[in-house]
Amino acid sequence: MPKLKVVTFGCQANELDSARIVGLLARDGYTLTDDESEADLIILNGCSIRDKAEQKLYSRLGTLRALKARRPNLRLGVAGCLGQREGETLRRRFPYLDLVVGNGEHLVEIPRLLSAAAVRLSSAAIPPTGFFPADVEVHRDSRYRAWVGVMEGCDNFCTFCVVPHTRGRERSRPPDEILGEVAALRDRGYREITLLGQTVNSYGLKLEPPVSFAALLRRIDRVVGPYVRVRFATSHPKDVTAELAEAMASLPSVCPHMHLPIQSGSSRTLARMGRTYSREEYLDKVQLLRAAVPDLSLTTDIIVGFPGESDKGFEETLSLMREVGFDAAFAFKFSPRRGTPAADFPDQVPDSVRAERLAAVLSLQDELSLRKNGKWIGRRVEVLVDCELSKRGSGLAGGRTRQNKIVHFTGGEVEEGTLANVQITGGTSHHLKGVLIPSL
Ligand code: 5AD
Ligand code: SF4
Repeated sequence: MPKLKVVTFGCQANELDSARIVGLLARDGYTLTDDESEADLIILNGCSIRDKAEQKLYSRLGTLRALKARRPNLRLGVAGCLGQREGETLRRRFPYLDLVVGNGEHLVEIPRLLSAAAVRLSSAAIPPTGFFPADVEVHRDSRYRAWVGVMEGCDNFCTFCVVPHTRGRERSRPPDEILGEVAALRDRGYREITLLGQTVNSYGLKLEPPVSFAALLRRIDRVVGPYVRVRFATSHPKDVTAELAEAMASLPSVCPHMHLPIQSGSSRTLARMGRTYSREEYLDKVQLLRAAVPDLSLTTDIIVGFPGESDKGFEETLSLMREVGFDAAFAFKFSPRRGTPAADFPDQVPDSVRAERLAAVLSLQDELSLRKNGKWIGRRVEVLVDCELSKRGSGLAGGRTRQNKIVHFTGGEVEEGTLANVQITGGTSHHLKGVLIPSL
């Protein structure tokens, strides 16, 4: 049996693509290994969102080259957004690569490329327009937690972002196909399903007839009932509607958590980013959601040092963070990406300033997260037990609340994938601490 290792860089969409690659190659007899030294095929599923992500993959390729020199039968491939964007360059720069493929339906070309004598570049230069085929079983490495892709691509063309170029135009899977996948997961005992899409809440707007994301959630809720948690990521503020807030409030399966990237607190910067909403409009959406969904947890993405971001503009990001009080924030220094408009904006911010601003955002968010988490002390929460989050050294079990907060708790053994009731006794900026409430 040939052995396969897939290394994933980047976001949850890439994690899902890796699981698809594993499922696809399982049909050709490949089994998974963690050990590079016994792999017959290593695929690096690459990310292009920021320069750092690309550099990480290049340095990994450097080490793998040495391994391949020792084991000439080892085959190496690059897939994903990086393959999509840099296909030709990768082939020139790393001639020892056996295959390079892009995203979406291009992934399906991997088996053919592996059997072809000559290299080895898929049609990656053309952005994907379709979907990974629904009849290929996605590999599931968890027996209780699963991702389900509901839409692909993005039409927003934010001026900093490569995603519309690497993942192609926005397109949604038909609802019946999604419901079929969700029902199969329910039947196999899955307890948490995360619906994925670049702008997941823009789901279905281009379907014929259109199906709103809220309508999809309602149909999924009917299929899974209250015992499965349904999450979704990532949401775009422009498609946060009263209908979606209402669906989140009323559907028992849907978790009270939204990842809602703001990117900047300055309306001027937001306009230059092409985000299509102002600071005030974002705040209105937050209010709409919070009025409908008690205990909603809100997380966000922030870019610092976008071209032309003044000290005052940056201060507006800090003040927005305070005003909203995010539960968590992922912050990034602006990384100019070739082929995107912002890379050519004349007023680039020096890296030293970007670094300072990043540190300021991270430190403020630490403070805000600590305060937010402190509010849970004394409350009882439902935790989906996840062994990856346990702290074996200190004997603590781990899991996540419906708000997606990590909880470490004492009080006994609980089986992975089950729901536990936990009394919260403390919190840091990264997680909550608690004690198991024994079930009667
Ligand atoms: N530079 C820095 N951060 C970026 N992101 C996307 N493109 C860039 C870029 N060029 C961030 C955004 C997005 C997250 C996935 O990555 O915050 O929401
Ligand atoms: Fe990129 Fe903007 Fe699309 Fe998000 S909405 S994937 S940031 S272009």
